Amino acid sequence: MATNVNAEALKEAPIPEAIEKQAASKQTVDPYNVQGEVGEDGVVKAIDYNKLVEEFGTKKIDQALLDRLERVTGKKPHRFLRRGIVFSHRDLELILDRYEKGEPFFLYTGRGPSSDSVHVGHTIPFEFTKWLQDTFDVPLVIMMTDDEKYLFSDKRTIEEVEGYCSNNAKDIIAVGFDPSKTFIFSDFQFMGGAFYKNVVRLSKHITLNQARAIFGFNDSTNIGRIHFGSIQGASSWASSFPHIFGEDESKTVAIPCLIPCAIDQDPYFRMTRDVSARLKYKNTNTSYAKPALIHSRFLDALQGPGTKMSASIDESAIFMRDTPNQIKNKINKYAYSGGKVTVEEHREKGGDTSVDVAFQYLRFFLEDDEELEKIRVAYESGEMLTGELKAICIKELQTYVAAFQERRAKVDDEAVRFIMETRPLKWNGNPRAPIVVPQVQNGDGDAAAEGGDGKLTKNQLKKLEKQKQIEAKKAQKAKEKGEKDKGDAQA
Ligand code: TRP
Repeated sequence: MATNVNAEALKEAPIPEAIEKQAASKQTVDPYNVQGEVGEDGVVKAIDYNKLVEEFGTKKIDQALLDRLERVTGKKPHRFLRRGIVFSHRDLELILDRYEKGEPFFLYTGRGPSSDSVHVGHTIPFEFTKWLQDTFDVPLVIMMTDDEKYLFSDKRTIEEVEGYCSNNAKDIIAVGFDPSKTFIFSDFQFMGGAFYKNVVRLSKHITLNQARAIFGFNDSTNIGRIHFGSIQGASSWASSFPHIFGEDESKTVAIPCLIPCAIDQDPYFRMTRDVSARLKYKNTNTSYAKPALIHSRFLDALQGPGTKMSASIDESAIFMRDTPNQIKNKINKYAYSGGKVTVEEHREKGGDTSVDVAFQYLRFFLEDDEELEKIRVAYESGEMLTGELKAICIKELQTYVAAFQERRAKVDDEAVRFIMETRPLKWNGNPRAPIVVPQVQNGDGDAAAEGGDGKLTKNQLKKLEKQKQIEAKKAQKAKEKGEKDKGDAQA
């Protein structure tokens, strides 16, 4: 049990006491820093997710998009979508277009193996990814960034992250991915061949100036860190995985991925999308497909809004190896409450669900919408007390963690070996789509639409020309038929 709140841990994710001493600053969210705005009073505010959508230039997931998702997949959107936990996206519509037409795409996500202590916050993007895989029935690749976690820590050794990597792979498998459709890989092990070619293609198109602007590097940053983005980005391209998508790059470059990730990972893929549009397959007009994204927000630490769960601070999080009793004690002892100080005051004024950690966790983990709404109303009206709310939350988390532990106990070394083996995958895609031979279009996806000049590629022009000819022929036939029918009628 990692109960040590050491100096390193404080640096990674300050606990509230440490936060209170900070100077005022704006909110920062990038792959290496997640920190809410610090006010003049030195207190950290909750992360403003709407502001991130604006700053990053992503799109909010609105009801119309959720309705379409439901229509296209025939499945009720996951509770994370219904409740704005998965709240933002890039080009999700294009992925739905493809799904409707039975055109191929894949899912890509990852994890930085930085510790053996996996907490409930870590499982959120993976649980959602599993839902996407079950819903779309497509291949999934999961990158373990052992290299990243070595490069971005002053202390960790390569051997240390290697150990985390295989344990974390077991945790990920325990989420319940279908092994026949899932490839988990470690950067250290998988680097080479088609993947490395794509890493280099990407890195050649990013200047030091751009990397600095995107990630905030400076002159003292080690060059491994500066280069790392091209590794995380290169897995967005299907051509990095010939064992899954085949060797024919003229086809695979046009297959896009959908990346479920926490919003802090967006900068990597903003950069990759930019390069994708500029990078041409063998100097033809075919661009690399831009990755689409779907972003989740963070689960607050037990200390409440403005704090983030830390793997190295036991009091900050519910860990996936916690016992039912530990869960109970942590929630009761540490979970920040939106309740009032006295029972009388609470009964009169009610609790604040927007800051109450137990309620927030229920939003993440309680499946039943109606029950959640009942709890909200009861708590806000003062009818339900903090202790009662916490008891419901404890039960829900105990169930969630116990189910995970049961699956985790069954994951052995062989399961890890299998899922990390470079091998073909099997998937079916959309059962309702017209059966198409995975057709690869030129200037795939949005490259032409968003690419800048709006000009059509040669191939698109050819296609248009062909379509015109077909339509002309059809019209001609219809006309002839019409004349024939007329003739028949007259006869
Ligand atoms: N950088 C991520 C982390 O530290 C790991 C990662 C790699 C990832 N590729 C990804 C996360 C794609 C989400 C999507 O956890």
